[in-house]
Amino acid sequence: MSQTITVIPGDGIGPDIIESAIQILDKAGCGFTYEYADAGLVALDKHGELLPPQTLEAIERNGITLKGPLTTPVGGGFTSINVTLRKHFGLYANVRPVNSFKGTKARYENIDIITIRENTEGMYSGLGQRTAEDGSEAEAMSKVTRSGCERIVRFAFDLARREGRKKVTAVHKANILKTTSGMFLAVAREVAQDYPDIQFDEMIVDATCMKLVMSPEIFDVIVTTNLFGDIISDLCAGLVGGLGMAPGANIGEKCAIFEAVHGSAPDIAGQNLANPSSVILASIQMLEHLGMQEQAKKILNALRDVIETGDRTTRDLGGNHGTTDFTQAILDRL
Ligand code: NAI
Ligand code: MG
Repeated sequence: MSQTITVIPGDGIGPDIIESAIQILDKAGCGFTYEYADAGLVALDKHGELLPPQTLEAIERNGITLKGPLTTPVGGGFTSINVTLRKHFGLYANVRPVNSFKGTKARYENIDIITIRENTEGMYSGLGQRTAEDGSEAEAMSKVTRSGCERIVRFAFDLARREGRKKVTAVHKANILKTTSGMFLAVAREVAQDYPDIQFDEMIVDATCMKLVMSPEIFDVIVTTNLFGDIISDLCAGLVGGLGMAPGANIGEKCAIFEAVHGSAPDIAGQNLANPSSVILASIQMLEHLGMQEQAKKILNALRDVIETGDRTTRDLGGNHGTTDFTQAILDRL
């Protein structure tokens, strides 16, 4: 039976870049069936809701989702759709790999780092309030659990083992945030003992930022809590030429959502200008998750060759072609 993928084209450039990824998956012989679902502004227009129940059902039913960027309207009290999805499906692991490609704005060659961010706890648990009688003070609470820390650290070590990686670095601030970050670090040290085949390293978050910029080659897999992971994963994207070259996966027990990490780029929407690489890289992550390593490699090689030879690349990559030409250059190599 062929795997059905829930496809959420999303807003702005979403439909164009998702279409590009689907054509590439088909040409590479992946044999998927697709169930399309709406979310974001397009869903608000059609169904009166940013995240209609039939979309949630489709995500749950098929287990695997490929998603374009979604616009969360500013004002009107809408909560972020991405945050809602993570909470609803318990997508506790945010996996953000970065790899440098020649011919891009990557600052280094040979960058190959995966950041694994805990996606549901920590500073982003939404606990906080204005205090003092006149509301002139504010406080927010970071909440982490032992089980949440253990789950994300095990996830990182299991991924490292599965993908033949050598080292996991736990990033923390346990010297100052003794309770929360302290718990994360203690759990990471414990879990590391179960994986003697993988090197374990620990590093304070501020020093990590400096070292990522100065000598990124010392990193392999990074695991960290929610806030630090949010920041570090974008820093890593900057090392390889920006969010246009960075994919992300949100993984839970039952569902996984693979996505481009940039937004809906309203300034270039509908103009055939978007670079679809991020969502193509997200599809590659999806194939690896499904154990389809051969197809993943085939698509990655084609994408890499197009970018590195500058054959029909988009403007942001220094070329002067559109989404469809860029996609065709990849299809030609498949
Ligand atoms: P953005 O990522 O959409 O755009 C920032 C800049 O990067 C723009 O100049 C845009 O043209 C360019 N850009 C982005 N992706 C590109 C691509 N694939 N090819 C070429 N250029 C690209 O960020 P912005 O403008 O802050 O957000 C726009 C909307 O996207 C907002 O409504 C925001 O809420 C939403 N958003 C959604 C995300 C998601 O669904 N994962 C993530 C971030 C933002
Ligand atoms: Mg972020």
